[in-house]
Amino acid sequence: MKKIITKSSQETVKCGQNLAKKLRGGEVIGLIGELGSGKTTFVQGLAKGLGIKDRILSPTFTLMRSYQGGKLNLCHVDLYRLDKPAELRNLGLEEIWLKHENVVVIEWAEKAGEYLPKTTTFIHFKYKNEKLREISLKR
Ligand SMILES: Nc1ncnc2c1ncn2[C@@H]1O[C@H](COP(=O)(O)OP(=O)(O)O)[C@@H](O)[C@H]1O
Ligand SMILES: [Mg+2]
Repeated sequence: MKKIITKSSQETVKCGQNLAKKLRGGEVIGLIGELGSGKTTFVQGLAKGLGIKDRILSPTFTLMRSYQGGKLNLCHVDLYRLDKPAELRNLGLEEIWLKHENVVVIEWAEKAGEYLPKTTTFIHFKYKNEKLREISLKR
């Protein structure tokens, strides 16, 4: 397991950018951590690292938002407001993650339970204090 402490949102963005460099397409990344722990900030870094120019907003009401124009397409899912498992299945994520030009990143991934593929990379976020976040990567 890899653990890092970031001291600012910029450092968390950088952390996302670093992971983006390693992506080849077809990956599913699950983000787990309380509100304000830096998940969306990390996704902004992923997008930046993929060369996506759009501003990344949390897709809270739509559950999912896709961004094109980068090295890979980024599908950003936020399950915070998910209340029925059917809503998750209706997103059709399986078709998205099967394509090698796509990367799927999911906030509140724990809410997806067994639905995510075995190959999902899980990243945990912890709020330490106003500026510090602990980011740990488990495979
Ligand atoms: N080290 C840090 N990493 C990420 N965000 C930080 C950090 N320090 C302060 N912040 C602030 O914490 C908030 C994190 O929000 P966000 O990324 O939306 O969290 P989440 O998606 O987990 O709810 C932002 O307002 C950001 O500016
Ligand atoms: Mg968020």
